[in-house]
Amino acid sequence: MARLDDQATPVGAGAPAAIAFPPSRIGSAYHPRGGEASVRALTSSEKQRLFEGHALFGILGPRDIDALLSHARFEHYRAGRLIFPKGSPGRSMMAVLAGSVRISTTSANGREAVLAILNAGEIFGEMALLDGGERTADATAMSDSDLLVIDQRDFIPFLKSRSDLCIEFLRLLSRRLRRTDELVETALFDRLDSRLARALVRLASDACSDSLPKPPFKLRVSQEELGGIVGASRENVNKQLRAWQRAGLLELAKRLIVIPDLDALEALI
Ligand code: CMP
Repeated sequence: MARLDDQATPVGAGAPAAIAFPPSRIGSAYHPRGGEASVRALTSSEKQRLFEGHALFGILGPRDIDALLSHARFEHYRAGRLIFPKGSPGRSMMAVLAGSVRISTTSANGREAVLAILNAGEIFGEMALLDGGERTADATAMSDSDLLVIDQRDFIPFLKSRSDLCIEFLRLLSRRLRRTDELVETALFDRLDSRLARALVRLASDACSDSLPKPPFKLRVSQEELGGIVGASRENVNKQLRAWQRAGLLELAKRLIVIPDLDALEALI
């Protein structure tokens, strides 16, 4: 399938941050991969904040958080770094604590399809962890990102002891499948303007999932990435965005799209 698009949660501006720890304040198990880190243990309220609002781990109480953290490690990736490539063996799962991660796959002729953009509060790497197969896509840090990494041998026993966590996990996987179904449908049936409007509305709404939506919506996403999301060339995306700019529906800057009125864009879907 040439163009699977958007789980997309927005990038950068307005994205909900589940934690407010810069890398240097993350706790004792922190393994910096791209930067300096001074190390200290987290207090229990910091641990709780770490998971506040997290789609999967937000339901855990202090004891479970301690148990999970005792098996997990923190990793920091600078913007642009590959976290893992498609096809690599996957024996761990990652929770995004800060930053944003692009899930994508590249065709033989170098075209990238963006399957999802994941922000703080989301997880990835669960597919290979659960089925023991290879990674199904590349994962790349889009901005400086903090991840909590949990190995399969620790997470599966943890899941087995928590049926409520299993249900949350199934919910999350169902939501992803639902979105993937939607994007297959739109990729097959919708015109580019409609696909693009849908992707922008989703990016903007996901940015506000934890807060009241407040216009203007600022999306830090490149036109190339948008092309990867909607399955179109950067040139065609640019043409459409410029037409909308002329019509006053949005403003364009470098890696930035400002949407003053989301309803007007939604009306185009
Ligand atoms: P895994 O296959 O281990 O590694 C790549 C990860 O990307 C995968 O687990 C999922 O977490 C994530 N992923 C793959 N496809 C999608 C998709 N269509 N939507 C959202 N996330 C995906």
